[in-house]
Amino acid sequence: MLLPRENITSLVLCFYALLLVAALLFVTVKKLPKIRGEPMSDAPPGSCGLPLLGETVQFMAAIHRGRGFYDFVQSRRLRYGNCFKTNIFGITQVFLSSTASAKMILNNESGKFTKRYIRSIAELVGDHSILCASQQHHKLLRTCLGNLFSTASLSKFTRQFDESVVQSLEGWGDGDIVIILNEALEITFKAICGILIGLEDGDELKTLQKDIDCICKAMLALPLRLPWTRFRRGLQARERIMRTLETITSERRHRGISQDDFLQHLLALIEKAYCDVDLPRLTDGEIKDNILTMIIAGQDTTASAITWMVKYLGENQKALDILRAEQLHFAKRISPGSRLSLEDLSQMPYASKVVKESLRMASIVPWFPRLVLQDSKIEGYQLKRGWTVNVDARSIHLDPSVHTNPHEFNPSRFDDESKPYSFLAFGMGARTCLGTNMARAMMLVFLHRLVTSYEWEVMDSDSTLEKWAMFSRLKNGCPVMVKRLADHTTPV
Ligand code: HEM
Repeated sequence: MLLPRENITSLVLCFYALLLVAALLFVTVKKLPKIRGEPMSDAPPGSCGLPLLGETVQFMAAIHRGRGFYDFVQSRRLRYGNCFKTNIFGITQVFLSSTASAKMILNNESGKFTKRYIRSIAELVGDHSILCASQQHHKLLRTCLGNLFSTASLSKFTRQFDESVVQSLEGWGDGDIVIILNEALEITFKAICGILIGLEDGDELKTLQKDIDCICKAMLALPLRLPWTRFRRGLQARERIMRTLETITSERRHRGISQDDFLQHLLALIEKAYCDVDLPRLTDGEIKDNILTMIIAGQDTTASAITWMVKYLGENQKALDILRAEQLHFAKRISPGSRLSLEDLSQMPYASKVVKESLRMASIVPWFPRLVLQDSKIEGYQLKRGWTVNVDARSIHLDPSVHTNPHEFNPSRFDDESKPYSFLAFGMGARTCLGTNMARAMMLVFLHRLVTSYEWEVMDSDSTLEKWAMFSRLKNGCPVMVKRLADHTTPV
């Protein structure tokens, strides 16, 4: 007898649910003795929650609440201090928030730590991603990818990005309400896809943007592959992106289509490596995973940083006045209608400090995870091999013993040299952000065009963070009312 379609679906769902419960029970029974283990007297303070589950539920609840996932860390830091442990997704996680521990972990002179992402993130960006590479392989990938961020390519990128910003800003009318995050996401996505794979317009770009968004939302989800889960949707989006990249790559190879972008440079590297065995050899899988990684690492982060920067400036008139004076003065020195160069950006001292201060206060990437490779001691506490340690950059950025009045937006604090390991917006050590200069360039260009063309008023000062976002991203996107400057010195 044939069952109706709904009944079949219910049966399949029940089957999956039973499978899941059975798997959980199996792992619990196997792991329980290890999890309970002998308590360590010098272990960091904190609670590892329930067996197997740990504090995953509390972590997921924090992601779902308005104050965002960082709230989970902050509340424990207040309870336990600069070093505490918890357990998320079955892994013991230690959070550390002193400059000394940041130095020890990120510098990694002892070789006891390596980069570690939770499994869901690793699966979504791919095994060949620079984010997941072993220490040895990471060096090779970093050399190949690092070459792409040369001064020449950044110079070209800066001019193109400026053109794009100018065009977008021209579309704003007097009195318009603009959602800065939406504008910034669109401009940065277009610019990054342009320089990476030569895709700047059209339906393909729109589909890609939707898929990237899907992956970003799946990064902090429970890694369940069931049909209706956020994680599964993220994996499907990843598959679609891989297919698109395959098509573009094959067109370049077989139809001789050539463009001046990162993908073309990476393909040329493969060709060269066929003739010269000493050259690093990348596989197609590495190219695809790392193009995806750079889109994810570069777009959301930079767009969020721009959004916070506009909000902080809109709420700090004094800093905005100093900045505008600097930028209008600078605008008089460049010919009207010309595009900004990389060199121009090096002549904006106060704007550079505004960028730095915004990144400090926003802490777009709030903490950096590393896997403990050998038992070690830190701040007097014992760390076990297999645990994950997280450098809590956000706490360091907001620590009053590191930065005076840390909640005050004060770009001039960077007039003096900062204390070592006190500014970690782009990380530190061998894993420092590859796109630091590119991100800074985008923020400075946007800043210059905005303050020399418009005044703005922040319409909603709510600082709630977006749920499920991997990076600190404003939920309201920072709506501002814009008004063209009366004395518009730099006609765009
Ligand atoms: C304001 C914008 C950005 C911020 C705040 C930011 C922040 C960071 C941080 C903190 C790390 C290191 C994480 C760790 O040590 O665990 C990192 C790594 C990385 N970032 Fe960025 N980033 C930004 C923009 C970009 C851009 C524009 C790109 C490239 C298009 C990029 C590509 C990368 C890559 C590939 C890595 C991995 C480096 C490695 O593991 O060797 N980022 N980023």
